[in-house]
Amino acid sequence: MKHDSNTNLVRGGLNRSQFNETSEALFLTSGFVYKSAQQAEAIFKGSKKGFQYSRYSNPTVEIFEKRLALLDGSEDCFATASGMAAIFFSLMCQLRAGDHIVSSSALFGSCKEIVKNILPRYGIEVTFIDGKNINEWKKAVKKNTKIFFFETPSNPLLELIDIRAVCNIAKKNKIITVVDNIFASPVLQKPILMGADVIVYSGTKHIDGQGRVLGGAILSSKKFKENVLKSFLRHTGPAMSPFNAWVLLKGLETIKLRVEAQSHAALEIAQFLNKHSKVEEVFYPFLKNSSQYQLAKKQQTMGGTILSFKIKGKKKEAFKFINKLKIFDISNNLGDTKSIVTHPTTTTHRILMEKERLELGITENLIRLSIGLETVSDLRKDIETALK
Ligand SMILES: Cc1ncc(COP(=O)(O)O)c(C=O)c1O
Repeated sequence: MKHDSNTNLVRGGLNRSQFNETSEALFLTSGFVYKSAQQAEAIFKGSKKGFQYSRYSNPTVEIFEKRLALLDGSEDCFATASGMAAIFFSLMCQLRAGDHIVSSSALFGSCKEIVKNILPRYGIEVTFIDGKNINEWKKAVKKNTKIFFFETPSNPLLELIDIRAVCNIAKKNKIITVVDNIFASPVLQKPILMGADVIVYSGTKHIDGQGRVLGGAILSSKKFKENVLKSFLRHTGPAMSPFNAWVLLKGLETIKLRVEAQSHAALEIAQFLNKHSKVEEVFYPFLKNSSQYQLAKKQQTMGGTILSFKIKGKKKEAFKFINKLKIFDISNNLGDTKSIVTHPTTTTHRILMEKERLELGITENLIRLSIGLETVSDLRKDIETALK
């Protein structure tokens, strides 16, 4: 029977053991035992179903993969140890020396490091473009282009890329589109339904959402997982720990409630900052004066839990504001139930060259806020006091 998506968040993929536990069982085991040498042979050959080794697959991890795939709308999923493992392997599993990849330049610092510095070491050619400009995607296509890669909204400036438009260009040129959907989460945006081929997540962010474990996931069609991903991942080993999968399963049960409540609060905070005299500019796609408001409405159901703003002044003023906050934690994670403040220039995007950072608009007065589940009026008062 096909269930509603909310039901799937608590029951999707459920595979009870012989003990009929209510909560999902945690199979904290690296390996599995076979009844006979013949059974081991059959399972390794694939003629019989069964778990072999937790680097390949594990019952708890499998429940997580099935549940996340139901939420994302993708056919299949491979869970990884972190979001960065998901990003790296989603690209590496498809590429070989001599291939070309086109990437939006507005990327999270570690993602930029992979595309800009690591892939070229293996003979992969890279072109960075302004992903907002659809013509740039068209113009960048070469005979050897294999992948289009981007994040939307981007970290930290919440820039949006028109997923449908980019995927259309990709399809016409037989290019695989890989979308980092970490900022919006699968609750607010479903790139797979807009033509994307591969979606990547950091489970560390909204999926856990409670600051406990690292995790990641690569979602795709069954065919892509079977033919491109599976062997590459099984033999290189970025597998998710069963314990982390179990924690993340609990996160999935409440992700919709959390992300929607946090997004309501984030919009309220963005609107408040938008009118404040000490604020130069606010970046949040669901603000009506945002140049990307129409696109945001087209591809996201809400604006998301994260916003950024430029405080009037320089690094000194930004640091003063950050240090004055009483509720917000100074940290670099996001999508957490606890509100977090980040200074991207000196932390998450420190790895970028200054010129590159400034070209992207990541200035020293830029502050990123991840809005949690505290009472919004408390958060607003905290910000108001710190701005004073
Ligand atoms: C857009 C984006 N992609 C990828 C990642 C990496 O995720 P993880 O920290 O789980 O490796 C992050 C983390 O901040 C991110 O913001």
